[in-house]
Amino acid sequence: MTVSIKTPDELERMRVACRLAAEVLEMIGPYVQPGVTTEELDRICHDYIVNVQKAIPAPLNYHGFPKSICTSVNDVVCHGIPSEKRVLKDGDIINIDITVIKDEFHGDTSAMFHVGKPLPHAERLVRVTQECLYKGIELVRPGARLGDIGHVIQTHAESNYYSVVREYCGHGIGRVFHEEPQVLHYGTPGTGLELREGMVFTIEPMINAGKRHVKLNRKDGWTVSTKDGRLSAQWEHTVAVTADGYEVLTARKEETAYYRAS
Ligand code: MF3
Ligand code: CO
Ligand code: CO
Repeated sequence: MTVSIKTPDELERMRVACRLAAEVLEMIGPYVQPGVTTEELDRICHDYIVNVQKAIPAPLNYHGFPKSICTSVNDVVCHGIPSEKRVLKDGDIINIDITVIKDEFHGDTSAMFHVGKPLPHAERLVRVTQECLYKGIELVRPGARLGDIGHVIQTHAESNYYSVVREYCGHGIGRVFHEEPQVLHYGTPGTGLELREGMVFTIEPMINAGKRHVKLNRKDGWTVSTKDGRLSAQWEHTVAVTADGYEVLTARKEETAYYRAS
């Protein structure tokens, strides 16, 4: 397994791409309202990335993916395809996953949004899933192992009676969208890859309200849903390993604990 170590110049270019991805999420939030279609959200993000940011939406044509963002509603776990038929309604939850390429480097991040008034059980799932991401991030430092991160995420999810999706994982990222290592969201402390300064990867736990099992839509080849039809949530950040810990490259302004102005 060869995990790339970013040079200071490459890390600076990752910061730029990642900040742009975070800014797309900040921009799109107000548009997530009852009555909007996921196709419209895709169009707004696409136009912003291409025309304002002068960047490239990485999902478009990636292994044949037909749109510029992923929109995963309710029981959809990940890789939901924006569609004019999917009209958001009050009480839905949606993950919007943004990956941009700028100056050859990728920035990848996703967030959950409540449509209209949040339902209590959905709000709890969304909150606990974000806590899973943050607990994973806080373990990142040189010498930590990937199994430590997977373990803390799995423990927090399962102690809240939720389950962790196993078929999809976080990933190294840089010039390549998905590179080594694979970052599992379950695991055993003290096992797996040992982290080193300059590694950059995503953490992106998918947490189900019911059982962990998922199914792939064979008609569109992309949409992954829970087998039991219950809700799923996901949050994603791109994180760099620093000399003494971590830097959340895709932090949004609202994430005051992680956000670095500059
Ligand atoms: N952004 C997703 C991830 O977090 C990958 C989307 S691939 C696509 O890794 F083709 F579905 F866009
Ligand atoms: Co990712
Ligand atoms: Co993503």
